[in-house]
Amino acid sequence: MHRDDFKMLQTGLIYFDNGATTLKPQILSESISDYYNYYSSNAHRGDYTISLKASNAYEETRKLVKDFINAKSNKEIAFTSGTTDSLNKIIFGYFRYNLQNGDEVLLTKSEHASNILPWFELADEIGIKIKYIELDENHEVTIENVKKAITDKTKVISIAHITNVVGDVRPVKEITELAHQNNILVLVDGAQSVPHMKVDVTYLDIDFLAFSAHKMCGPTGVGVLYGKEELLKKIKPIIFGGGMNAEFNTDGLRIYKEMPDLLEAGTPNIAGVIGFGYILKYLNEIGIKNIETKEQELKQYLIQRLKEIPEIKIYNGHSKSGIVTINYEGIFPQDLAIYLDKYNICTRAGNHCAKILQDEFKIKNTCRISLYFYNTKEEIDYLIKVLKNPNIKNEII
Ligand code: ALA
Repeated sequence: MHRDDFKMLQTGLIYFDNGATTLKPQILSESISDYYNYYSSNAHRGDYTISLKASNAYEETRKLVKDFINAKSNKEIAFTSGTTDSLNKIIFGYFRYNLQNGDEVLLTKSEHASNILPWFELADEIGIKIKYIELDENHEVTIENVKKAITDKTKVISIAHITNVVGDVRPVKEITELAHQNNILVLVDGAQSVPHMKVDVTYLDIDFLAFSAHKMCGPTGVGVLYGKEELLKKIKPIIFGGGMNAEFNTDGLRIYKEMPDLLEAGTPNIAGVIGFGYILKYLNEIGIKNIETKEQELKQYLIQRLKEIPEIKIYNGHSKSGIVTINYEGIFPQDLAIYLDKYNICTRAGNHCAKILQDEFKIKNTCRISLYFYNTKEEIDYLIKVLKNPNIKNEII
């Protein structure tokens, strides 16, 4: 599907590390180089034609993001440098001021570091309590376990929509319904979901959402912070400077702008945001539903074929996303990834920034295969052939 758009695929590379970052279609570098070559200028600051063109293109991306996730207003969308930046801005800009000592935040042990460490820091600072929703035997979240974890002190549920190692798709709609009945806000890390499935923040009733452009064919260094407008009225910036202030004087009086400018101090990644706009149009043309369907087919095929190899342990065969986490008996995961690289196959080995997941998996490191719409069954066949190599252990030693 659309393979010709990706120059790197024309070299014979088999890219199965889409959970880390995806490949980029040529339209991305073309749109970015167009900006740098023909209308490079600051946005929101110039009264001349090319600056207005840059500002308009930048703001056009905001509207495309708003439509992509079905937010209600452009004021609900701020550009950041990535999911981590968005999560930190939400946690330290909103929750720091709206939680108090003793309030409880529910996470899971399969969250990425960026949805755990900021909470630990905030807990040290203001005395909130971190609790974990129990995972089921497949390491997944069930609504029953969310119910069990909620107490009258729970104020926030902060979870990935799809986790980056288990790859389970969390029942976000049911979680927000339950949470809102109990006056709990829901922060969703959408890094692994927004690129792969329709995430409609209005339908799902998500309070805050964070995701990155680079995991959906876009540039690195661009992320999105979504929040409901009424909540963002209470967010405070954690970065201060030009672009976010309306006025200030020598006495320290300062008046800050409203959303989204409030959270976009300094010159933003204009080129990246403009390029991301082209990517959103590109993904809209392909259709997020078609992307999801293609990945589902590939995922089922991959699992079916991996099962032919007795030495392979699959940790997340049940999960519904395009993330498959494995180990090969007797081979250290990193050695497996290096071996696969010899055959031009890219995977990711390690703990994948989900360092407390080992409590669940009972093992520290794994090798992850993560799919996207441009992968093919032929690539999977080649992976299986390479994994079935009777000399695999000798080649690794
Ligand atoms: N969070 C990214 C991953 O899962 C980097 O690989």
